[in-house]
Amino acid sequence: MKNPVRVTITGAAGQIGYQLAFRIASGQMFGKDQPIILQLLEITPALPALQGVVMELEDCAFSTLSDVIATDDANVAFKDAEYALLVGAMPRGPGMERNDLLEANAKIFTQQGKAINDNANRQIRILVVGNPANTNALIASSNAPNIDPRNFTAMTRLDHNRAIAHLSKKINMDSENIKKMTIWGNHSATQYPDIDHVTVNDHSIKNQITDDWLKDEFIPAVQQRGAAIIKARGASSAASAASAAIDHMHDWVLGSPENDWVSMGVPSDGSYNIEPGIIYSFPVRCHQGEYEIIQDLSLSEFSRDRMQITETELREERAAIEELL
Ligand code: NAD
Ligand code: LMR
Repeated sequence: MKNPVRVTITGAAGQIGYQLAFRIASGQMFGKDQPIILQLLEITPALPALQGVVMELEDCAFSTLSDVIATDDANVAFKDAEYALLVGAMPRGPGMERNDLLEANAKIFTQQGKAINDNANRQIRILVVGNPANTNALIASSNAPNIDPRNFTAMTRLDHNRAIAHLSKKINMDSENIKKMTIWGNHSATQYPDIDHVTVNDHSIKNQITDDWLKDEFIPAVQQRGAAIIKARGASSAASAASAAIDHMHDWVLGSPENDWVSMGVPSDGSYNIEPGIIYSFPVRCHQGEYEIIQDLSLSEFSRDRMQITETELREERAAIEELL
């Protein structure tokens, strides 16, 4: 067994948090040989519910769970944390766009950025799930000047997984055979799910789909999947979101699959002429806790246009919260 690592989950008594805590504690994120200390943060009124989560965690008797700290104090929750999943935030309801949450949730990420800066391990790796995830990650990072901005990432893995699942149905192929899917941009209705580089058994799939299917069905279906789930469930995605968060952290820390890449919202370094600094989803390869943006992909005019639309939205979101940066 290795030494335990400290993992913070915010909003740990919420829908996604309730899934995440058990999956992480049981070794699904970092493996069965990696003991975990869970540091769970909630708002004060949710502490009784959080206590229930702690009791259930105890009752699982997971051999990978070394300790659990449950608190409403962000300074305690982020103390020496090596990993953090920032989930605690208001979810959208029917008829809302994710950036309608910007004002309501921005304060949370300002405070938590500061608490991370003051308390966390200097190498902490952070995944922001709470919406609007990309801009919340930017807010948290800007409030944590002593932590490398590259360590603040936003979740577009759910979109990536949704795109693979949708394509897999269309071409009747197992999802594990579908490689090199890309989500560009914002975790929002402007995101661009790009199949131009997708391969199955090393072959392109472009001859199996039509332009009409791509533009009229695939892209809107992936962009609108979150809204479709809210309509069906009356609540936003939770189990699939937790699953994607586990995938994101697992691959970041333990490495992305060979001959493939994953999508992560990361600070733009100007690759593909995307505005530096905004948190933009790129195709990335991960190795031993580091990620690198896949370079030199050829892009059609259609792709460039779509990438720019989602970049513009992220610039606008940044302008709307400029005073918090
Ligand atoms: P939820 O309302 O069920 O849970 C949120 C929890 O956060 C609640 O328990 C609440 O008490 C807690 N919370 C609120 N403010 C907090 C704070 N300052 N500190 C700590 N905890 C706080 O919501 P949910 O369904 O779990 O969704 C959480 C967020 O994740 C939402 O913003 C949702 O839109 C987003 N989300 C993102 C993705 C993605 O792909 N990026 C996917 C699904 C959901
Ligand atoms: C999702 O994509 O399911 C989440 O971001 C929740 C939402 O508001 O769509």
